[in-house]
Amino acid sequence: MSAVRDDVRAPAETGVGDDAGTPAGLVDLRVRCMVCDATYPGDRPLTRCEACGGLLDVDLALDGPVRPEAFGVGLPPVLRSSGVWRYWSLLPALPEAAIVSRAEGNTPLYWDDRLAAYAGLGTGQLGFKHEGHNPTASFKDRGMTVGVSHARAVGARIVACASTGNTSASLASYAAAAGMPALVLIPEGKISGGKLSQTIAYGARVVQVAGDFDQALALLRQLTDAYDVYLVNSVNPFRLEGQKTIIFELLEELGWRVPDVIALPGGNLGNTAAFGKALGELMRVGLIDRLPKLAVIQAAGAAPFAAYHASGYRAFAAVVAETVATAIKIGNPASTPRARRSVELTQGVVTTVSDDEILDAKAAIDRAGIGCEPASAASLAGLRRLVADGAIAPDATAVGILTGHVLKDADAVVSYHLEDRDDAPRPSANRPVRVAAELPALERVLADALHG
Ligand code: F0G
Repeated sequence: MSAVRDDVRAPAETGVGDDAGTPAGLVDLRVRCMVCDATYPGDRPLTRCEACGGLLDVDLALDGPVRPEAFGVGLPPVLRSSGVWRYWSLLPALPEAAIVSRAEGNTPLYWDDRLAAYAGLGTGQLGFKHEGHNPTASFKDRGMTVGVSHARAVGARIVACASTGNTSASLASYAAAAGMPALVLIPEGKISGGKLSQTIAYGARVVQVAGDFDQALALLRQLTDAYDVYLVNSVNPFRLEGQKTIIFELLEELGWRVPDVIALPGGNLGNTAAFGKALGELMRVGLIDRLPKLAVIQAAGAAPFAAYHASGYRAFAAVVAETVATAIKIGNPASTPRARRSVELTQGVVTTVSDDEILDAKAAIDRAGIGCEPASAASLAGLRRLVADGAIAPDATAVGILTGHVLKDADAVVSYHLEDRDDAPRPSANRPVRVAAELPALERVLADALHG
């Protein structure tokens, strides 16, 4: 017998808000199936098309041109100070009272010529948008403010996700802000301590699943299909709306001048999906007149999308994922069809990098004083690979997306710099030195630090 009370079971044909009628303010909101074009009202927590099972997009009206000066104007301060909600005219209009925001977004864009040289690009040609500077230290907060706000707007009672750690940290924080319970499934022993700590600290109910991320997500979908539990993984079209603002904010900072390439790590492929939608919409409203190439970088041990792309999209096969970059250790990316659409739209490229390439690129980003978690460094490692292969010209301008903060995975730093490797010592390991508590010993260290 089920231990769950009947009132938590999902109503068969209705949305969460239907008991009380359509939630106020959601009447104009629609989602559309990317496969069969069926549309549904946006007042329910749908994550797949009821007719064909396809992925859904939020269908925005976007009538007429948008003036860039208008962003943020006329919005209440709490929305204006958010790097997500200030792009109100390019987002689903949720009822203001439902919005949970933590002034997310507003992340820095760093230009670094050492890293440009590392990638094989010229001076002033490579920037990094650092999404680790969000409230919970990853890009997930941009999607979460929209996802959790939508959950509130439709009257959801509990929000849930499966996660490699960052989504769970973000969901836990935003659910706490909203005063809602959160349920989080994580692959046992496979997420970083920092991310697990955040998730626990912010008060989510954490479930360690004996399996990998793909199994945890499949399990959670069984639960959300059967029960009235709001799913915020990136199959949720509202979450992706928030992630579009990485592109909006980046291009606004660039004065709407489009770089040749935007490189990002690909895991579950939610960002790849969101970036393509964002770019298509910016073209539609006349804010940009050309598209950058999206460069999607997967870890070699977790690269089903790269293989699918390389097959000319003929054969998709899920893999059992293995990589040091635990955030992108995903073998069956949920947003694969949407990501394909984004890559096709932008005539993008998809490539893979080894764990060593990721870790060396991460060490270079860290050493530049910027810092990021391993998955994020795939963007630099991938650019370097693509320039070396001739897929990206050395005079191209590029922006890489750093998806998470260096402190998200402190163990990765320690193991890179402090653990000996007999086979091939790390090129830029930075080992702390031990000294006796005597000035001459410290003087020797000073001389060494000054002269090399
Ligand atoms: N980088 C970081 C730091 C991530 O946490 C993730 C995904 C990605 C890149 C990949 O992004 O899925 O949009 O392709 N993390 C998810 C999580 C899966 O559960 O935190 P994607």
